[in-house]
Parts: sequence; C-alpha cells; structure tokens
Amino acid sequence: MDPIKNPFSPGAGSPPPELVGRDPILEQARILLGRIRQRRPEKSLLLTGLRGVGKTVLLNEIERLARAGGYHTIAIEAHEDKALGPLVAPHLRRLLFELDRIAGAGDKAKRGLRVLRSFLSALKVTYKDLTRQSAVALLIDEIQYFSQKELGALIMAMHKVQQRQLPLVLLGAGLPILPGLAGESKSYAERLFSFPEVGALSEKETAKALDEPAKAAGVTFAPQALQEVFRLTKGYPYFLQEWGYQAWNLAPTNAITLEVVQQATATVIPRLDQNFFRVRFDRLTPNEKHCLRAMAELGPGAHRTGDVAQLLG
Ligand SMILES: Nc1ncnc2c1ncn2[C@@H]1O[C@H](COP(=O)(O)OP(=O)(O)OP(=O)(O)O)[C@@H](O)[C@H]1O
Ligand SMILES: [Mg+2]
Repeated sequence: MDPIKNPFSPGAGSPPPELVGRDPILEQARILLGRIRQRRPEKSLLLTGLRGVGKTVLLNEIERLARAGGYHTIAIEAHEDKALGPLVAPHLRRLLFELDRIAGAGDKAKRGLRVLRSFLSALKVTYKDLTRQSAVALLIDEIQYFSQKELGALIMAMHKVQQRQLPLVLLGAGLPILPGLAGESKSYAERLFSFPEVGALSEKETAKALDEPAKAAGVTFAPQALQEVFRLTKGYPYFLQEWGYQAWNLAPTNAITLEVVQQATATVIPRLDQNFFRVRFDRLTPNEKHCLRAMAELGPGAHRTGDVAQLLG
C-alpha cells in the first residue's frame, strides 16, 4: 500500500498513531500537575523503561498536558557528554524573560525562581517577577546520563522545592537503572519521586495499536496477522511499529494478512539489526559486549549475573 499514507512510526520519539496502554501513567501525571498547580505536595514522576518502550513519546504527551494546564515548560534531553548547566541555561533564560513580561508577581513564585537560580548557581540570570498562577514543568529525558553530582543537585533542588511547596514540577524519563542511581545520589530520592515503569503492551493493546490506525485508513488486519505480530514483538512498542510499517508497505491490498506479516518479518529483522541494535551495540565498551555475548549464549529467560560471570570465566 501507499508508503506515503503509512500511519506507523518506527523511530525515536516519533509519536505513534495510537498511544495505547499508557492511561494509568497519564492519569498520574494529570493528578500531579493539578496538585502542584494548587501548591499541594506530590511526588515528581520519573518514567523508567528499556530502550524503545515509549518513554520519550509519553514524556512529550505529558508536556502537552502540562501546557494545556497552563504550565510553562522546559524540555531538555541529557547527553553523555554534556553538562546539565549549559543544557538547561538557554531554556531557563527564555523562561525567565517570558515570566518577566507577565505582570503581577507573587512572593511564592519569586522564591521559586530563587531556588531555580541557586540550583544553577553558575548562571548569571536576572529575573523579576512571576505571576501568581504560574507553574513551571521541567521535563528531562535520558536523566540517567547526568553525572552523580548533577543528579544529586537536581534531587536536592526538588527536595527544597517540595519543602517550600513551590509551583515547580520535575518530569523525567530514563533507563531502568535510574531509581538505583537516584537512590545512590540521595537516599531520600524514593520519597520525592515516583518511578512508574513503562513496559511492553499486552496482546489486546498491541492489537489496538495496529488495528485502530489501520481502520482509520480503511485498512484491516486479519486476527492471525495481529497474533503473529504479538508473538514476534511480545508487545514491545518500537518493534510493533516496525512490523506495522513494513506490513503496510508490503500489503498488495487493504487487507493485511498473516502472509503479509510473515513477509514483513524478513525485512524487519535485518532492519532491526542494522538500526535499532547496531546503534546501541556500538555504544558499548568491549567488556559490555562480552557480557551481552555471554547472556545471548545462556539463551532466553532470566539468568543470574553469577551465571554470566561463570561463562566469562
Ligand atoms: N504506547 C505506544 N503504543 C504504540 N507505539 C508506541 C507507544 N509508545 C511508543 N511507541 C512507539 O515506539 C517507538 C519508541 O518510542 P520512544 O522513542 O518514545 O521510546 P523510548 O523509550 O524513548 O526509547 P529510547 O530509550 O531508545 O529513547 C516509537 O516508534 C513510538 O512510535
Ligand atoms: Mg527516548
């Protein structure tokens, strides 16, 4: 079928045609944003999950929620080799100017800015006012890349923000190592943050993620085709977008059958190897590569790290 009309979106942070299975987390975000705006205490959200499960997409959706709720937002992505200060500074400067223009400041809001500024003490940013009803949402993707010092500073700043009930909320996303890193940085982190897990979709959700966008374009998936995609992807969001995308392109008619999905598999697997896995594999150290190799040799299922160590000698 026409690749130009293909609704599926395999990629990094590319919004899926149908964001399924994330209602509980979105509801948690909605409550958090509402409470912080009313100066009620609530744990900040740090989404955790493996590569390609949909953390970035979800964080972007939460940003939209925040904006719709009247929040000023700052969205950044942490990098392995970029420090937190320079990353957030331009956004913060823009925000401060923006707030500066709005008349009618409240004391609490001013204090909020002071805390923000002390968190980035190296910055020489001037600020004046903040409206009484303003609230700020700081969204940070890939938080696990911050150094321990930066993560510690961020957590400490959020601790102060919570103690003073300031209208600032942190919404972040990172790999599953994040709760451990945060706990190591500051032991009170678990009381400040909630770490909802973003994971694979159920069989029903997987079917919906494929079927709904197709239906909207007058295309149908055969039930066996949907089952096959679930069998192959186990509901893993990035993979199901890949299968949906290739199956759409390969389908000769607007009925996507089991055979079409099987045909797509032959295209998808090398694509995953060349893109998805390659990019991530190339970033590993030689020792990490040996470790992966050993895990692969042990085969599917859960293994103790001791088993891996034994295999590696
Ligand atoms: N709820 C969902 N339903 C269907 N597809 C989804 C869903 N969430 C994400 N996707 C798709 O999965 C892919 C990966 O999403 P995203 O880039 O947000 O993942 P991520 O967890 O941020 O990955 P990484 O850790 O590599 O940055 C995208 O192609 C996106 O369209
Ligand atoms: Mg991401």
